[in-house]
Amino acid sequence: MPLSSYLSIAIIAILFSFTSSAIDTSTHEDNFLQCLYSYSHNSTSISKFVYTKNNSSYSSIIQFSIQNLRFATNTIPKPLVIITPKEISHIQKAIICAQNHGLQIRIRSGGHDFEGLSYVSEVPFVVIDLIHFRGIEINVENRTAWVQSGATAGELYYAISRKSRNLAFPASVCPTVGVGGLFSGGGHGFLVRKYGLSADNIIDAHIIDVKGRFLDRQAMGEDLFWAIRGGGGASFGVIVSWKIKLVHVPSIVTVFNVPRTLEQNASKLVHKWQYVASKLDENIILGIVIKSTNSTSSKQGESNSTIVALFQSLFFGGVDKLIPLVQEKLPELGLVREDCAEMSWIESVLFLFGFPNGGKHEVLLNRIIGEKDIFKAKSDFVKIPIPEFGLEGIWPMFGEDGAKDSMMVMVPYGGIMDNISESETPFPHRYGNLYVIQYAVHWHQEGDEVEKLHINWIRKLYSYMEPFVSKSPRSAYLNYRDLDIGVNNKIGYTSYKQANIWGVKYFKNNFKRLAKVKTKVDPQNFFRNEQSIPSLVSKKHR
Ligand SMILES: Cc1cc2nc3c(=O)[nH]c(=O)nc-3n(C[C@H](O)[C@H](O)[C@H](O)COP(=O)(O)OP(=O)(O)OC[C@H]3O[C@@H](n4cnc5c(N)ncnc54)[C@H](O)[C@@H]3O)c2cc1C
Ligand SMILES: *[C@@H]1O[C@H](CO)[C@@H](O)[C@H](O)[C@H]1NC(C)=O
Ligand SMILES: *[C@@H]1O[C@H](CO)[C@@H](O)[C@H](O)[C@H]1NC(C)=O
Ligand SMILES: *[C@@H]1O[C@H](CO)[C@@H](O)[C@H](O)[C@H]1NC(C)=O
Ligand SMILES: *[C@@H]1O[C@H](CO)[C@@H](O)[C@H](O)[C@H]1NC(C)=O
Ligand SMILES: *[C@@H]1O[C@H](CO)[C@@H](O)[C@H](O)[C@H]1NC(C)=O
Ligand SMILES: *[C@@H]1O[C@H](CO)[C@@H](O)[C@H](O)[C@H]1NC(C)=O
Ligand SMILES: *[C@@H]1O[C@H](CO)[C@@H](O)[C@H](O)[C@H]1NC(C)=O
Ligand SMILES: *[C@@H]1O[C@H](CO)[C@@H](O)[C@H](O)[C@H]1NC(C)=O
Repeated sequence: MPLSSYLSIAIIAILFSFTSSAIDTSTHEDNFLQCLYSYSHNSTSISKFVYTKNNSSYSSIIQFSIQNLRFATNTIPKPLVIITPKEISHIQKAIICAQNHGLQIRIRSGGHDFEGLSYVSEVPFVVIDLIHFRGIEINVENRTAWVQSGATAGELYYAISRKSRNLAFPASVCPTVGVGGLFSGGGHGFLVRKYGLSADNIIDAHIIDVKGRFLDRQAMGEDLFWAIRGGGGASFGVIVSWKIKLVHVPSIVTVFNVPRTLEQNASKLVHKWQYVASKLDENIILGIVIKSTNSTSSKQGESNSTIVALFQSLFFGGVDKLIPLVQEKLPELGLVREDCAEMSWIESVLFLFGFPNGGKHEVLLNRIIGEKDIFKAKSDFVKIPIPEFGLEGIWPMFGEDGAKDSMMVMVPYGGIMDNISESETPFPHRYGNLYVIQYAVHWHQEGDEVEKLHINWIRKLYSYMEPFVSKSPRSAYLNYRDLDIGVNNKIGYTSYKQANIWGVKYFKNNFKRLAKVKTKVDPQNFFRNEQSIPSLVSKKHR
């Protein structure tokens, strides 16, 4: 889209939000609240779970789940009302009342959306925050579980591990990610080569649709059930809970974290890794995290910045089997027994996330781990190994000012990912993808100048990578949300043709089917945002 049309859409959006917020906001809000309360004569009083800007805890409630502090500042628009529903009926009321009184809804589970779409909107809006919907029921006998959307991956891992050492679930590496966004957008981690995405292991779900109906898989139908397993939840309704298939893990797994700097031939290793990682036995996954680091140059004895590639692995078995496997396929890594540790699967989750060996499992229950910061991230898929000169062109960028705290995470696919067809779920990045890259740059200091420095850096890296990554479309992973690749306008409307620009990057041919499902279940496009699936019916404002 030409810049001029971006601008005119932005201006229309600004005018629209200005007029509506200047004139109507307080009546919208009052009417909305009246509507909420009028319905609640008998259920647990909803008012205990409703926060307006008047409530003293409004601010702490909205801030609590904001993962990217870029969207926490005062200049970022905040919801008129936050609802932290305790019952299904609260969600139903919120959906109905918001429609009746001209407010938008944002749905938040873990709040990890890279672009803050679960709690930021340019139009008057309400946040439904599922912080109280985090129940988990494990059925060991049948190897299934029901997990509510507001639970985190860590809470799920922990709950499974309390019941069995041999059960697990394929989801994120990071334990604080919310199940609502994670499952509805795909979800990958160290089990992806053996068991696929979180979305590949869902067998039922409960959703509240635009009419406020509570629907299970049978009632919602296979099209909608397909769409919410990788197409993102926010375009379709509020997903309350998921029934998942638990997977088998052996009692003992083996892990390692092996760092190699440029001086230790990291370039050659990363290059060779590309030919190997997606072809390995499905019982092993070997990923890479690339960062810049300070090393002490022995010659000069002074600090020098270099690149370190951290090779991280999980193997379904003991160390005796792992060493020869890696030795055969990637002898250059020089893996030795001392690099490896045998443990249970749940311990491997802690280890691979970076908790010291032997740490308390309960840390998985924390919804906030470590210090939050500001970040921007992007993604790519790689189908043809990047030549060594291509890799060597990346490294100097990690020494630039904009790159102070930056990284590239490379997650290999192959294994079962090659066996699942592109249309099985909306997530199309299957056979032929060697690995996915997440680029991320972090910083701490607010301010336009600093932000520009870092965002320009990551965009420059992204543009450098273009010749080396997937093309037509240059694919992206929905859960690594990136508004740079295209947006609906700020109030969430777009033509199919315009949405297709970013739509095919996330979904390839599945985008068309997603739009058809959207048109069927939410023709008036109530559930919308900057990257929601467009309805083929409605292009007009409400
Ligand atoms: C630190 C960090 C680590 C990460 N690690 C991984 C990883 O290892 N693997 C991986 O695959 N991804 C990872 N991600 C990306 C993550 O999967 C996505 O950001 C995901 O969408 C977050 O889900 P959430 O519920 O926490 O986020 P939210 O911000 O709450 O939601 C994300 C999107 O989903 C929508 N949504 C949320 N809940 C619902 C619901 N119940 N019904 C309907 N729509 C809903 C929101 O409206 C929003 O559009 C990571 C992200 C971060 C910030
Ligand atoms: C509220 O109403 C519903 C149905 O009308 C009923 O099933 C429920 O028991 C009522 N709850 C209370 C607390 O009275
Ligand atoms: C917020 O304040 C309103 C009145 O100002 C009150 O009715 C409501 O219960 C408060 N909400 C919470 C969660 O305390
Ligand atoms: C919030 O406070 C203002 C002034 O203190 C009051 O006029 C308004 O009615 C309050 N709103 C709600 C929803 O309680
Ligand atoms: C497991 O599934 C079987 C068959 O559907 C059912 O009879 C049994 O009750 C289930 N077990 C549990 C613990 O739910
Ligand atoms: C790096 O590779 C060269 C040859 O390719 C080899 O001679 C050297 O020992 C390697 N260095 C390390 C630290 O592995
Ligand atoms: C490297 O060290 C310098 C000086 O101590 C410091 O300013 C810089 O932030 C460090 N870089 C990294 C990546 O740690
Ligand atoms: C840092 O390392 C590079 C490459 O190894 C070298 O060319 C440069 O001189 C070193 N700089 C310092 C300050 O040690
Ligand atoms: C993928 O399919 C092939 C061929 O049918 C099979 O041998 C292999 O085990 C499958 N891989 C996984 C991880 O299911």
